Amino acid sequence: MLVSGSGSNLQALLDAGDDLGAEIVLVLSDKADAYGLERARGAGIPAAVVRWADHADRAAFTTAVCDAIQGAGAEAVVLAGFMRILSAEAVERFPLRILNIHPSLLPSFPGAHAVEDSLAHGAKVTGVTVHFVDEQVDHGPVIAQRPVLIEEGDDADSLHARIQQVEHQLYPEVVAAFAAGRITVEGRTVHWEEPS
Ligand code: GRF
Repeated sequence: MLVSGSGSNLQALLDAGDDLGAEIVLVLSDKADAYGLERARGAGIPAAVVRWADHADRAAFTTAVCDAIQGAGAEAVVLAGFMRILSAEAVERFPLRILNIHPSLLPSFPGAHAVEDSLAHGAKVTGVTVHFVDEQVDHGPVIAQRPVLIEEGDDADSLHARIQQVEHQLYPEVVAAFAAGRITVEGRTVHWEEPS
């Protein structure tokens, strides 16, 4: 798993326990002070830091991240609040094996400020998207989406809190389905047997 911040989605996957049907073999961050690394250490999972500033460019950073992932023996990559854009090498090395969670209903409000942007736009509904990562940011095939209503008086904190409640339920379900081989892809169309 790759994280840059709090790692509450990492925690949700940890809390799923055996139901996840997958082992988290490495938590990697670009930030040494990411609280997600603390959560990993607390759970006895190897935690690694690959700093952006230690690398000449995006390509070198991406190679270092991918090498660490491969070195840990990971078969797939779960992004949760990882705030660095990886080069195409990552998708080439892990094709349809990188998942991301985004706090809007893509393709609406891509980018790092999705919650603020949905409020600024005056949207009435936003939500959560889990998707495969491709060469473009917040663009790959959609696996699952859940709506979240925007309420009168919402600010970014209150809206993000409700979005995160949905994330913490949805991401473990998707990762479990992926680990069990219950997710298939044809072009941009993802078939997923959602749990009943
Ligand atoms: C989540 O809201 C996710 O959608 C976005 O970054 C946030 C990460 O939160 N990509 P956390 O670090 O898992 O708490």
